[in-house]
Amino acid sequence: MTRLTIRRPDDWHLHLRDGAMLAGVIGESASHIGRAIIMPNLVPPVVTGADAASYRGRILAALPAGTAFEPLMTLYLTEATDAEDVAAAAASGLVRAVKLYPAGATTNSASGVTDFAKVQGVLDRMAEIGLPLCVHGEVTDPEVDIFDREAVFIERVLDPLRRRTPGLRVVMEHVTTADGIDYVKSAEAGLAATLTTHHLIINRNHILAGGIRPHYYCLPVAKRERHRLALRAAAVSGDARFFSGTDSAPHADPLKETACGCAGCFTATNSIACLAHLFEEEGALARLEAFTSLNGAAFYGAAPAEATITLVKEAAPVTYPAKIETGAGPVTVFDPGYPLHWRIED
Ligand code: NCD
Ligand code: ZN
Repeated sequence: MTRLTIRRPDDWHLHLRDGAMLAGVIGESASHIGRAIIMPNLVPPVVTGADAASYRGRILAALPAGTAFEPLMTLYLTEATDAEDVAAAAASGLVRAVKLYPAGATTNSASGVTDFAKVQGVLDRMAEIGLPLCVHGEVTDPEVDIFDREAVFIERVLDPLRRRTPGLRVVMEHVTTADGIDYVKSAEAGLAATLTTHHLIINRNHILAGGIRPHYYCLPVAKRERHRLALRAAAVSGDARFFSGTDSAPHADPLKETACGCAGCFTATNSIACLAHLFEEEGALARLEAFTSLNGAAFYGAAPAEATITLVKEAAPVTYPAKIETGAGPVTVFDPGYPLHWRIED
């Protein structure tokens, strides 16, 4: 197959940042993505409905002319979050999910949750109104090895949280382990997972073997090969509980290529080409659309996109930029480590 038309993809986990970085990166998604769940981990975070309305306005203002891109806003859950504010922001259609970051788990997560009892009222209200909770699933206990933090989170935090909040709809974001995949499959209902493009391509060797590669460092950190294979199997299976959330997370190069580099892979530019490549490798191109354009919309209760994009496979490798220049500095584009042959037809 050398041509494939699919409904316009959505991105169910995207970091757009703000200011000059937002202006520099938004076109990389808006060129081919219809809707994206926008992560709220700005500094300061997007906590209230008013914060989300104002951030949404800045995103729309930064959109290149002629692009049809709908930002689906999220709120950053803090121990001071007001359940009434969340409910009102959801009722108006502005906010589509609430994001849970355990305090200290990742980039800009200092305002996240430490004492889960303090957010139970908000979680109960979300269960009542059907507003999904997007979860960064890693414990922050320094005693727990970084490669085990997702599996331990499921056992210590996520499963108890779901049991005490019946009906809460949960998306485990950027699952990186076979344990995460198994947990999602074991749930009766109301649980789904996003998978990033990069975690389907790299394992932990890519970060560390033969030299340290800061552009492959993200959180949750990539795990062993057996985990990558489990993620890949889930992605290409067509199972409606798994869908694409790139977690494309731009940081200017100097902040990654340094003694203490930021976590995040920037995949917005070539994510669809990478996904087409790997679905083709798995003999699953016919299920690419489910992963990029159908399953997530169904979970979030949105109609699939009417618009389509056409992917074309070229005989010669297609060149994607190694970096994009932004007003906040250069941002390195994710390198899958092999030539890409797919492109999106103009
Ligand atoms: C994200 C970022 O940079 O905001 N980084 C990352 O490695 N994924 C934060 C996050 O989603 O954990
Ligand atoms: Zn993220």
